[in-house]
Amino acid sequence: MDMKRDVIIACDFASAEATYAFLDKFEGEPRKPFCKIGMELYYAAGPEIVREIKRRGHKIFLDLKLHDIPNTVKKTMAVLSQLDVDMTNLHAAGGRAMMEAALEGLTRPDGTRPALIAVTQLTSTSEEVMQKELLIDRPLPEVVMSYAANAKAAGLDGVVCSPLEAAKVHETCGDDFMTVTPGIRFAGGDAGDQKRITTPAKAAEIGSNFIVVGRPITADPDPVAAYRRAVAEFCEE
Ligand code: C5P
Repeated sequence: MDMKRDVIIACDFASAEATYAFLDKFEGEPRKPFCKIGMELYYAAGPEIVREIKRRGHKIFLDLKLHDIPNTVKKTMAVLSQLDVDMTNLHAAGGRAMMEAALEGLTRPDGTRPALIAVTQLTSTSEEVMQKELLIDRPLPEVVMSYAANAKAAGLDGVVCSPLEAAKVHETCGDDFMTVTPGIRFAGGDAGDQKRITTPAKAAEIGSNFIVVGRPITADPDPVAAYRRAVAEFCEE
C-alpha cells in the first residue's frame, strides 16, 4: 500500500444515510478523503456501505478490530477480503498464531490482499488502567513495542498506536512498518475519551504514516474546513 502520509476520517456514524450526507459535503474537493469504517457503521449498515463508499472513489480502512481464535479470524478475514478495502485490522493481543491465520485468510487466491495492521493498546487506555485493570504490569511503551514486534514477526504491515509512540515503533520495526495513529486533536480541542493524544502537525513530526481523525472533523460545524486543516498540518508541513 502507498505509505504517503494521509488523513483518514473516522466515519463513526450510526447509519448509511448519515454517512452519505457527511461525504456529500466533500463533493468537488480536490482530495478524496480516505475513510475509516468502524464497528458502529459496519454493524448498522453492513457490507453494502463498504461497496458504496468504494464506488464513490474513497480509499477504505475497515476497522473491525478482530480478536478471536485463529480459525475464526482466518475465516472472517477470508470473507472480508472479498470487500475491496485498502486496509483492515485486528487486536495484537490475540497473539501471533491469530495474526498469522488472519494474514492467510485475508490473502486472495491471486496473492493480493488489503494491508493488515494490528491494534497495540487502544489510545483510550492509560498505563494506570492497563496495569490495574488488565494486570499488565509493564510500562505501556514497552507493551506497545512488544505487540508491534509480534505483529511484524507475524508478517503484518503495521500497527495502530498512539501518535506519541510512532517514532519508537519505526525504530523497533523499521520505516516500512506502517503507523496508523488515532488520538488526534487540534491544538486547544476537546480530548473526549482519548488519553494518548497529539495534534496533526506533531504526529507528522513524530513520523506517523496515517492519522485517524474522528470527532475533530465529524463534529465540527464545518467538517470540510476541519479536514483541510488536518491535511494542511499533517501532509503539507
Ligand atoms: O473521534 P476520534 O478522533 O477520537 O476517533 C478515533 C477513531 O479511531 C475511533 O473510530 C476509534 O474507534 C479509533 N481508534 C482509536 N484508538 C485505537 C484504535 C482505533 O481511537 N487504538
